[in-house]
Amino acid sequence: MPFDTKFPVQSVRATYPALDDGHAYLDGAAGTQTPQSVIDAIVTAYRTGIGNVGGAFAASHRSDEIVAACRAAVADLVGGRPDGVILGPNMTTLTYRLAGALAKGWGPGDEVVVSRLDHDANVRPWIQVATRAGATVRWAEVDLATGELPVEQYADLIGERTRLVAVSAASNVLGTRPDVAAIAALAHEAEALTYVDGVHATAHGPVDMVELGADFYATSAYKWAGPHIGAVVADPALLETIRPDKLASSLDTVPERFETGTSAFADLAGVTAAVNHLAKMVPGTGTRRERLVTSMSAAESYELELFAVLLEGLESMPHVTLYGKPARRTATAYFTVAGRTPRQVAEALAARGVNVWNGHNYAWELTGALGIRDSGSAVRAGLVHYNDPSDVDRLLQGVARLQE
Ligand SMILES: Cc1ncc(COP(=O)(O)O)c(C=O)c1O
Repeated sequence: MPFDTKFPVQSVRATYPALDDGHAYLDGAAGTQTPQSVIDAIVTAYRTGIGNVGGAFAASHRSDEIVAACRAAVADLVGGRPDGVILGPNMTTLTYRLAGALAKGWGPGDEVVVSRLDHDANVRPWIQVATRAGATVRWAEVDLATGELPVEQYADLIGERTRLVAVSAASNVLGTRPDVAAIAALAHEAEALTYVDGVHATAHGPVDMVELGADFYATSAYKWAGPHIGAVVADPALLETIRPDKLASSLDTVPERFETGTSAFADLAGVTAAVNHLAKMVPGTGTRRERLVTSMSAAESYELELFAVLLEGLESMPHVTLYGKPARRTATAYFTVAGRTPRQVAEALAARGVNVWNGHNYAWELTGALGIRDSGSAVRAGLVHYNDPSDVDRLLQGVARLQE
């Protein structure tokens, strides 16, 4: 198969010890494996000695440095500013925190726009805080035949009372990449904020949150080779205007005032290592940001090239139903197999050493709209930068054998 030779998948794979177990890890959309450099960074942080931040001694200074390095790394990854990087346990927790803080200024008559495409973490928090504030929730619908989120509907959905538009940079099941920049332009015309869920998207290509028009860009390091840490990135000037609930004794500076309790310092060292890993998957020059763009662009081309084989293979099987056919997408497939529940398919594939997910994967509204949520939803098989042609072959062979 004539794969993009610019992407050195075998040397990338060699950096991931977990891949040595011989499984085809097609479950990256639920969380990737971690390269040795990330594991080393976490171990080193603990071994060297870390303290809480802000102390007078060396171990505390090391934690200060770990936090600062992590903010700089995440900012480079998404095209934001280090002092606008809020760190926390995961995207869901941070989104609840931001939603609670933002909705303090909402009231009856205000509106928030959510989408039927999104992971529930970028839907439910907004509905819950809007409902408490007496604000109205408006829904962007998915074209169920294609899996697209038509941008035209936003002209009607967004108005002068819109306070916030929550939208995904990529669907975690269909892979759809909506035209976030166009949606954001409409939101900004109405002086509304945009909250962009980049948890799925970040792993699959270069990100420029300014180009996307994201006032808030949410991401989770465990989807892109890092540990279980989430981040929300925003312009620090915007964060200065927002007042989350906080302890009297905790820092009131930005971004610290958005972070509750003591951070997972060693894991934050792992996040920086993960960003450095992504930046050097292919040789490049320039700043880390420039190398990230080069490396993630190469990874995206490679993933999509390999995905074309996966998709063609599944499409050719009469017993497979694929959901969504979006024009711009990540390398993520969502499908059912005739005569088998999604769980049975995942179990049959697991028996052959192929890891895939079954279920709604928290795409709660979408699977409901597709009418598949109550029957176990579907199977998700996705590619990330460490998957190779043999992973795809094994998936296709496994699914082919499930024909009745
Ligand atoms: C698109 C998307 N958004 C949000 C989330 C939630 O992220 P977290 O687990 O960091 O809360 C996920 C997790 O699967 C996701 O795929």
